[in-house]
Amino acid sequence: MILVDLVFLKSARRLASNYSNVELIEHDITESLDWLYQGQTLVQSPFRWLNDSSIDLVISLNLITQLPLIPVRWLMDEFDLSELEADIVGKQLIFAHLSYLKQFSGEVCLIADRVDIELDPQGLELDRFDPWWDVEQPKADTHWEWDVMPLGESDASKSQKNLIGVSTL
Ligand SMILES: C[S@@+](CC[C@H](N)C(=O)[O-])C[C@H]1O[C@@H](n2cnc3c(N)ncnc32)[C@H](O)[C@@H]1O
Repeated sequence: MILVDLVFLKSARRLASNYSNVELIEHDITESLDWLYQGQTLVQSPFRWLNDSSIDLVISLNLITQLPLIPVRWLMDEFDLSELEADIVGKQLIFAHLSYLKQFSGEVCLIADRVDIELDPQGLELDRFDPWWDVEQPKADTHWEWDVMPLGESDASKSQKNLIGVSTL
């Protein structure tokens, strides 16, 4: 089994070392960060592992909505990207990841937040937003709630829970 992330901390490496069948690979799953880092808004179509027919199960786990966050902030701060342009890059990164997943020949499971909800200390909803940048979400077969930011963890006046959905692509 391979686990892929942009970076693995020592603590994750230590945990993974308990499993002889787990390999950690640091890799930019968008295959676009080199371009975006230089201010080039060129979102690529990722291809790594697509020709590996031994891969029979791919799980994209709580990742897809994270892909645009830091690159888009970087482009806006460092290269004065407009909100409109930033929106296009965000959508393209999400769309490209979906297209990438759909090209694997084996089973593909997408686990991702579908709605992010902010709550006040009494648990009343303050705001909710679509973390998919308005890209159409594949239908989820099942959902659960994730208390991603309990009250007080990073803000004493609000908490956040995400509705997580699972799709088979
Ligand atoms: C919410 S965490 C989920 C981590 C892990 N998949 C899990 O479910 O425990 C989002 C992860 O996305 C990773 N990530 C963000 N952009 C990435 C990219 N371009 N390529 C690979 N991983 C990325 C971050 O490093 C972070 O670990």
